[in-house]
Amino acid sequence: MNKLDCQSASDIIIFGAAGDLSRRKLLPALYQLELSGLLHQDSRIIGVARSDFDNNSFVELAVKNLKTFISETLDEQVLAKFVARLVYQKLDFSSTDGFKALAKTLAQGNDTRVYYFSTPPAVYGAICDGLDAAKLITANDRVVMEKPIGHCLESSKVINDQVSRFFNESQIYRIDHYLGKETVLNLLVLRFANSLFTSNWDHNCIDHVQITIAESVGIEGRWGFYDDAGQMRDMMQNHLLQILSLVAMEPPADLSADSIRDEKLKVLKALRPINRSNVKEKTVRGQYADGFLKGHAVPGYLQEEGANENSKTETFVAIKAEIDNWRWAGVPFYLRTGKRMAQKHSEIAIHFKEQPHNIFSDSYTELPANKLTIRLQPDEGMELQVMNKIPGIASQMNIQENKLDLSFSKAYADTRVVDAYERLMLEVLNGNQSLFVRRDEVEQAWHWVDSIIEAWQTSNDKPKPYAAGSWGPVSSISLIARDDRQWDE
Ligand code: BG6
Repeated sequence: MNKLDCQSASDIIIFGAAGDLSRRKLLPALYQLELSGLLHQDSRIIGVARSDFDNNSFVELAVKNLKTFISETLDEQVLAKFVARLVYQKLDFSSTDGFKALAKTLAQGNDTRVYYFSTPPAVYGAICDGLDAAKLITANDRVVMEKPIGHCLESSKVINDQVSRFFNESQIYRIDHYLGKETVLNLLVLRFANSLFTSNWDHNCIDHVQITIAESVGIEGRWGFYDDAGQMRDMMQNHLLQILSLVAMEPPADLSADSIRDEKLKVLKALRPINRSNVKEKTVRGQYADGFLKGHAVPGYLQEEGANENSKTETFVAIKAEIDNWRWAGVPFYLRTGKRMAQKHSEIAIHFKEQPHNIFSDSYTELPANKLTIRLQPDEGMELQVMNKIPGIASQMNIQENKLDLSFSKAYADTRVVDAYERLMLEVLNGNQSLFVRRDEVEQAWHWVDSIIEAWQTSNDKPKPYAAGSWGPVSSISLIARDDRQWDE
């Protein structure tokens, strides 16, 4: 079925339309959908914010940002079609009049509305109240919520309760943009369309798993938000735990949203708790100090603009996670994520078990185990490390490690890598929730993460410093070395 066949004309209302996410991601994603012919011809995009724009100045801002954040030259005809959909509505979230004015704008529009909350979660409740008072919520509408949903389990329940007073779960799309990435989506295909991996994906064959999301950027002027969150809430509670769930889940019965989400939830529920008794042994938190990146000196976290120099907020986390179920008994999942690391690099590495007996010991005393690396970004692709005979008559049975390498940019050279937000926007418009996070998943993830944060706070230890441009604190190496293993570099 053509994607447009299942899409009805919608009004897409972006709250926080002048903000960073809207300018960098949402408007460019919608433009790309336009370019691909995937927006219904009657759909409109209504930007809502407190700022003093009118339609023209909002269009100017949008075009300027499209030019900045889209690397290809914009297509003039497509751009003209796109900006014709843009409408601006100034609105203060606490003002009834603002919502009345929005109601007027929407009265001339489409029956299906997508409310995109690209604002701090603290105002989600006020937006819902305003929409309800202006009679702007119907069963047709959808709401998209950005992470982080809350600061802990309790605050996330409050936010979810505020929104679910007006929208039922089938109308709520909680974004974790990693779920929209091509390579993350491909995990389902890799695991469940290839019998080779389906049958070898458990404690019998896998020794351990490493999941790394390393970023070279620092906090990019977001001190206020970031210092309150830290890497645990900003990245681990959502992106890393979602990836872990997809790697570890049982095969879903089908691709429907609830089949997938039921299986992911079971994994989150099976995570062994980490608390005061074992937090030191299972986790490491770090904070970047000054250092060098690509030859340039960069400041430490405590020297960033607006910094509180006593902050104990972590910018790096490493965790040894264990899943207490039959499939993963005895298979640790080592997770790590940090800012200002040596390079932007995200991958999942599946380390298979070693051969029980080595018949090639004359040429190779210790046979390395196979490893499957799924490169999430950049250079999206996969590689399988295998042992291979060195060709040639003289070399007899000399063997060496080699790689079966599938690089997406080579294999699909003519295909543009779609940005996660583009895909997720389209899924919302099509009413498909599979790539969005259900409330119980968010809450289960908080449950696990809260206990770690609580244990850190109780210990009162400072995060371990690491030089910007490195791979994290030394103690993160010890975390895995204690198990006679090492991080993939
Ligand atoms: C966001 C975090 O969710 O993901 C940011 O809030 C982080 O701190 C970003 O930089 C990373 O996303 P990506 O797609 O660039 O890996």
